[in-house]
This record gives sequence, C-alpha cells and structure tokens, in this order.
Amino acid sequence: MTMKTDRLSQTLCRALNDQITLEAYSAQVYLMLACWADEHMLDGINRFMMKHSQEERVHMAKIIEYVQERGSIVKIEAIKKPSPEPTNILECFEMVLQQEIENTESIYRIVNMSMQEGDWATWNFLQWLVNEQREEEKLALDLLDKAKLAGGIEMTDNARFELNKLIGNTGQEFPVADHVNPLV
Ligand code: FEO
Repeated sequence: MTMKTDRLSQTLCRALNDQITLEAYSAQVYLMLACWADEHMLDGINRFMMKHSQEERVHMAKIIEYVQERGSIVKIEAIKKPSPEPTNILECFEMVLQQEIENTESIYRIVNMSMQEGDWATWNFLQWLVNEQREEEKLALDLLDKAKLAGGIEMTDNARFELNKLIGNTGQEFPVADHVNPLV
C-alpha cells in the first residue's frame, strides 16, 4: 500500500484552493479599480490600487506554497470578471471594503474548519492571513473615512484633486505590501 503523504484533509485542501482563486479575484478587483482610477485621471488612487493588487497576488502565492508544502495539490481555476466599475470615489472605496470583508469571512470559515479538524499547522498558517485582513480592513475603512471627509458623493473637483494627491503621496501611511512580500 502506498503511504498517504498529503497532510491536508480533502475538505481543507479544497477550501484553500478556493481561497487561492478568491485572492486572484481580489487582485482582479483592485486592477479594475486601478484602471477605473486611471481613466478618471486619479493617478494617486491608481498607484494605490496597483500596489494593492500586487499584495493580493502575494497572498495567493503564499497559500499556493503552503498547500504544496503540505504535500497537497493546487489546481489553478478561472477567475470571474470583477464587479461593475464604481461611479465615484466613495463607491470605489466601498468596493475595497466590501471585497476585504468577503475575503475575511472566507478566511474565517477556513480557520474554523482547521480548528474542527485539529489541523494546527493550517490554523497557525492562517493566523498570518487573519492579521493581514485586520490591517486591510483598517486601511479600507481609513480610505472610506477620507472620502467621506472630502465630501462623499458631493465631492468637489478641488476636494477630489486633494484626496487623490493625498492617497498618492502617503505610501508610508498606507503600509501596503512592503512588509509582507515573502517572495523576496
Ligand atoms: Fe488577500 Fe485583501 O486579502
């Protein structure tokens, strides 16, 4: 009899594979928002979204590595088309928060599964993602607050100009991706 070397249950392996696709989808959503921002001459927001799209790809890569490290198999699936484009900056940032909340909920479900199975290696690995999500939700809420402060859907051209500049110039204030890239 051949020894079973796959250290993940089928259920967890499937859930992690689905999460890989969800991270890829998140990257697509950020790319869509980046292109929308570029089309509307919002270069600061474009830069932010491009960078964040990259962060989602890092998440995806880390989960792929983890599944393979556990002797299990990753199958890459199709990514669905991102949601329709926003119609204003407030909506754009609401979409960011919405995306992050969905991602958090999906990760929580896998954390629960790993706990029920007593798969502490997976549980432990996922804590990194739980922390990431906490930071990303904070970041999304912060963006949303700034958009509301700048006038929300009533935002003037001048406020839009300043907000775009602020988001483009505050790389340090938004510590996206720089500290998490495990591939370098
Ligand atoms: Fe990969 Fe924004 O969570």
